[in-house]
Amino acid sequence: MKELRCPLCHQPLLQNPQGLTCANRHQFDRAKEGYFNLLPVQNKHSREPGDAKEQLQARRQFLQAGFFAPLKERLQDLLPTTVQTLLDIGCGEGYFTAGFSGALPLAQVYGIDIAKAGVRLAAKAAKDKAALTYCVASNFDLPFVDEYMDLVTRIYAPSKDEELWRVIKPGGSLVIVAPGENHLLGLRMRIYREVRPHPQPVTPNGFVENGHHRLSSELAVRDREMCSALLAMTPFAWRLAPELREALLASELHDTLDFTITTYSKK
Ligand SMILES: C[S@@+](CC[C@H](N)C(=O)[O-])C[C@H]1O[C@@H](n2cnc3c(N)ncnc32)[C@H](O)[C@@H]1O
Ligand SMILES: [Zn+2]
Repeated sequence: MKELRCPLCHQPLLQNPQGLTCANRHQFDRAKEGYFNLLPVQNKHSREPGDAKEQLQARRQFLQAGFFAPLKERLQDLLPTTVQTLLDIGCGEGYFTAGFSGALPLAQVYGIDIAKAGVRLAAKAAKDKAALTYCVASNFDLPFVDEYMDLVTRIYAPSKDEELWRVIKPGGSLVIVAPGENHLLGLRMRIYREVRPHPQPVTPNGFVENGHHRLSSELAVRDREMCSALLAMTPFAWRLAPELREALLASELHDTLDFTITTYSKK
């Protein structure tokens, strides 16, 4: 392994029997699920940064049931077949990351997230898959050496332009997925008096946009358990009044899924 770098001193990390170490002897153990924790305590701004465990478990349940399958398939269709190295930043519990790895069997695929609970779920499902590596790490300090990635994907997560630019190869690509203006509009209208449109991604510095796609579909959630998972994975739904929550859980939920997919090339 020569692609990972130390989050403390930025020297390359080399594998040893316990995990990874750099020339300055900073040591990072390999967890039993197979992931590496590359988020030093001093870089953690809270005890459990990122999405909460319950939110990630709900996301896993909802995504595994196939509700976001059209987005996964569309993204897989957009992947250039020449990709050999792909990084999914803010990968959560790894639904899309695992999909990318399945669609690109010859590529090395990496997923990072600041939430350990997400990376743990992702890595458990990827055990013994040598082509899929997960790390707990921050999108703002990517634990990879410069110009290693053919493609970086960012699905609903924050990032820092300089870091995206640094890890992508010259001529490499970036794919950003964001909620479109009608995404879960029905639910948002029941929660907010005034629904504000989702901010659309701006072209990161050092990149040029080369494609923009919109993917909209109807969402019908028929059972209570899945409705509950959708509400639990959706941060704005935490503000629901108890009566409204119960009313939503008691009936079928019909809404719209709406995503924008924007592709960029590194200048
Ligand atoms: C809405 S979830 C999307 C997860 C995944 N991409 C998916 O679509 O299933 C956003 C994810 O970004 C992660 N995240 C938030 N801030 C982060 C940061 N600074 N570095 C890495 N991950 C971060 C959260 O922990 C969460 O898992
Ligand atoms: Zn180091």
